[in-house]
Amino acid sequence: MLIRREIPADLAAVRAVTIASSYKPHEEEPVEVILRDSLHKGENWIPALSLVAEGEDGAIIGHALCTWGRIGAVRVPNLSLLGVRCDHRRRGVGTALVHATLAAADALDTLMVVVLGDPDFYGRFGFQPSTDFGIVGEEPAWEHMFQIRPLHAYDPSVQGEFTYPEPFGSI
Ligand SMILES: CC(C)(COP(=O)(O)OP(=O)(O)OC[C@H]1O[C@@H](n2cnc3c(N)ncnc32)[C@H](O)[C@@H]1OP(=O)(O)O)[C@@H](O)C(=O)NCCC(=O)NCCS
Repeated sequence: MLIRREIPADLAAVRAVTIASSYKPHEEEPVEVILRDSLHKGENWIPALSLVAEGEDGAIIGHALCTWGRIGAVRVPNLSLLGVRCDHRRRGVGTALVHATLAAADALDTLMVVVLGDPDFYGRFGFQPSTDFGIVGEEPAWEHMFQIRPLHAYDPSVQGEFTYPEPFGSI
């Protein structure tokens, strides 16, 4: 397996993985795909944090995508989409994508990575509830599912509400 940056030629394959790993894979355009397409056109897309996993045959078997959100004036990457093809799950692909994302975000000197997801999965990568860091999500109901992974450049004075970029919330 190879983890690398997504390139334009990957678009169709990545869309297919997004559809297959969405919560409603039977729908041609699940909300995750609409969100992804919309983010791709915007200024909050982060090319260095748009990664794909290539299988041994060169096919795209997974992807991870971060976009810029904000805590006050500070830009913070949000792990927006993570998906692995169903026929390649439980083989470490998702784990490799999250580790690669964290390493790439660290190399960009970002303070942290934010995620809204299952703590049973993300906790193993060092994500902790955001409130431990004085940071809250837009929805109080997210509680412990809204998490932060501090990186090398972490600054504890950066606190407050994390706001998602457009079009989150409007899709
Ligand atoms: C979540 C996902 C990316 C994991 O990919 P993967 O390649 O199967 O992950 P890995 O093989 O690296 O790791 C699998 C481990 O994660 C665990 N795991 C997978 N999904 C999990 C979840 N939702 N909650 C808790 N643990 C989970 C597995 O039990 C396994 O643990 P184990 O190694 O102790 O047995 C993949 O299942 C997927 O695409 N799911 C649909 C989309 C999704 O839910 N994305 C995340 C949004 S928060």
